[in-house]
Amino acid sequence: MPGGTQDVFYGRGSPVQLPMIERAAGIYMWDEDGNEYIDASSGPMVSALGHGNEAVVEAIARQARRLDYAYTRVARNRPNAEYADRLAQLAGPGFERIHLSSGGSEAVDAAIKLLRRHAVATGQVSRRRVVSLMPSYHGATIGATAMTGDDALEPLLDGFAVVSAKVPAPMSYRLPAGYTPESYAAYCAEALEVMIGELGSENVLAFILEPVGGLATGAVVPPRDYFRAVREICTRHGVHLVFDEVLCGTGRSGKFITAQHWPDALPDVIVMAKGLGAGYSPLGAVLAPASVVDELAGLGGFESSYSYNANPISCAVGLAVLDEFDRLGLVHRAVHVGALLRKSLEEMRDRSPIVGDVRGLGMLLAVELVGDKDSRTPLPAEALPTERIRLHGLRNGVMLYSRETSRGRFGHWFMVAPPLTITDEETAELLRRTEAAVGGLYDELRTGCVL
Ligand SMILES: Cc1ncc(COP(=O)(O)O)c(C=O)c1O
Repeated sequence: MPGGTQDVFYGRGSPVQLPMIERAAGIYMWDEDGNEYIDASSGPMVSALGHGNEAVVEAIARQARRLDYAYTRVARNRPNAEYADRLAQLAGPGFERIHLSSGGSEAVDAAIKLLRRHAVATGQVSRRRVVSLMPSYHGATIGATAMTGDDALEPLLDGFAVVSAKVPAPMSYRLPAGYTPESYAAYCAEALEVMIGELGSENVLAFILEPVGGLATGAVVPPRDYFRAVREICTRHGVHLVFDEVLCGTGRSGKFITAQHWPDALPDVIVMAKGLGAGYSPLGAVLAPASVVDELAGLGGFESSYSYNANPISCAVGLAVLDEFDRLGLVHRAVHVGALLRKSLEEMRDRSPIVGDVRGLGMLLAVELVGDKDSRTPLPAEALPTERIRLHGLRNGVMLYSRETSRGRFGHWFMVAPPLTITDEETAELLRRTEAAVGGLYDELRTGCVL
């Protein structure tokens, strides 16, 4: 079977036959049979500029001709220096030092390794535990997998030395009885304090969270007070607060740096990726304070690199992406299109018997599917809602990215997060196809007597 060497890694026995994509332009993709699809989630929230952006393609060619590669331990390169400066400028005070990597998982690991090296170098050797949220997603390396909150991963990680303790994520839709989203978030912040107490604050290195959730929570946005509370708890216990902005960063939330939505609760370290390279080249970044990095530099240094980190071509792509963000006013577009999308998706929620919730920030939105709207009961797992909504998406010309955490125990949702370059007309078409997919799923569930 052509592609069999690859498909075995991603298929999972899914009923969805993924299309073989041949080409893409803007928000559209076409498969080898000529079928057209709208890329409703920018892949996994990567393709911020859409596909085939000429300025970025040109930048790749120019840089590849001039300097394709220079290894960071033996040489410096200009695109790397310029790109790091641009990112630091965008992030502002407190994030003066930028470590580049080839993606989000590497960057998450690098952030924790940096903090751990700093702790060891400054005599805080016992600080090795990381606290993270259940559910959450932080990447696919062993370190990032250990920080990820997903019941399905527990057997995989059992016995591994890299251990992170989990506290509940401030979910907002399906809550324990008697809670509002605000009071549940306060309970979740309290759970962090309790966990740090149980572990012993002298043993805790960092608390990592996605400030706006991605696939793991379906774009959950914690209330403002939650950020203030966890910031205060981390400061009081000398625990580094790390924002994983790999998915929600790079403008999609309505600010280039998502943390800037909560200026009185800024983290100590920010991790970014995905939209930085926008699909044109692998690129991730750790944004860290000069105080930590420079102190460590005087005590032996971070001393951690990959063959491909700070690669000149990736950095040239990063610079071209930032230029396109400025030229096209994409952060502003994220606010404008985000509002359009949200309003229409909420109207769809009101019309559809299986759409329970629409949430998110800017152009990072999720639609939660339910079996019963009054009780907020999830769709039955045996109905394979995560797989089937994709199938109905493909049938209606839209690629919908759905995923479930902890075998669906938190619910089922799909993301609506198209390229930030989408026009208002294309947004209307995306919504039309998405509603058709949801309708197709509903009809199938109803006639299959699942509902
Ligand atoms: C919040 C978050 N962190 C980290 C990662 C890992 O990034 P990458 O897939 O680039 O390794 C992801 C990827 O989906 C993510 O959503």
